Amino acid sequence: MDMQKRRPIVLTGLQPTSGIHLGNYLGALQSWANIQDETDCLFFIADMHAITIPQDPGELRKNIIDCVAAYLACGLDSKKSHIFVQSQIAGHAELAWILSCIAPLGQLERMTQFKDKSSRQAGEFIGAGLLYYPVLMAADILLYNTHLVPVGEDQRQHLELTRDLAEKFNGIHGPLFNIPEPLIQGNCTRVMSLQNPTSKMSKSDHNSLATIFLSDDDDQIMKKFRSAVTDSGTEIRASDEKPGVQNLLNILSGVSGMSISELEVNHAGMGYGKFKTIVAEAVIECVRPIRERLETLKKDSQYLHSIVETGRAEAQARANATFASVCDLVGLARRPSI
Ligand code: AMP
Ligand code: TRP
Repeated sequence: MDMQKRRPIVLTGLQPTSGIHLGNYLGALQSWANIQDETDCLFFIADMHAITIPQDPGELRKNIIDCVAAYLACGLDSKKSHIFVQSQIAGHAELAWILSCIAPLGQLERMTQFKDKSSRQAGEFIGAGLLYYPVLMAADILLYNTHLVPVGEDQRQHLELTRDLAEKFNGIHGPLFNIPEPLIQGNCTRVMSLQNPTSKMSKSDHNSLATIFLSDDDDQIMKKFRSAVTDSGTEIRASDEKPGVQNLLNILSGVSGMSISELEVNHAGMGYGKFKTIVAEAVIECVRPIRERLETLKKDSQYLHSIVETGRAEAQARANATFASVCDLVGLARRPSI
């Protein structure tokens, strides 16, 4: 067996939406880039998850390819990892169907994300896909015999369901799936809004000063940090009573790699105005090369398509192998092509 295959298999992905922001980078993409050398990574674009809410087809297709550009710009390396698009591998939807037949309906109805999203749409149309979403996520993971799944805290419950489904399948049909572990890491897993530091930084914030996008230029980043909300005190200290300052320290820690306590010591006695400028400068230095790579990459759609085509071939081979075993164990007809 070659080395590549013996390393733990890591799989994760993002939904292709426009506006990748500093929270996505510090909470997800940065740490994904950092594990590529020690693990066998599969990074995919969850376009089938994205259609659980209505999407404009042209926008969606553009967002998929922009998401590939963002992956590369943030340091994912197609020579070390496999980058592909979920909907190009039919096994995701096929395995999801098989898993849905053993998924307890009650457990799906109790998923926090389903309850949140469906209560926000109360009285409106709610597609069954929203309920089924975590089963598709389980299929994404189990199709590649994944060991580790880097996700944000909000996805932990979906990972629990994945583990339950893998154990249940193995119990009924015989041992096939690895039981995957969530990988929740990094010192900056929750980047908060610059305008309301008690809520998460998000692309859909109505206040345009709240969110730093990876496409923001240096002046926009400086302006947003200079107007960041802090408290009326002067102390640079991370505490729950000072969510604005805590968020700035967290962000600085995320971009610099320094610990919060080191940063507290280094900036003791400094006024908030000066501190905001320092954080802005550090973020500018971090975002600038990403933005520049993003701009260059977006101009070369042929290259971006070639990346996902290479990724597709590898993902397809792995998915076929797992799916053939699934069909055998469940008793479904074998595919002539696999
Ligand atoms: P979303 O854009 O909400 O679909 O998030 C995709 C992934 O990015 C999540 O699973 C999180 O790991 C990460 N993420 C999103 N927003 C933040 C944030 N404000 N702070 C830290 N991580 C985030
Ligand atoms: N649900 C994840 C999110 O919103 C995206 C996702 C879909 C995912 N399938 C996955 C993440 C499989 C990890 C593994 O962030």
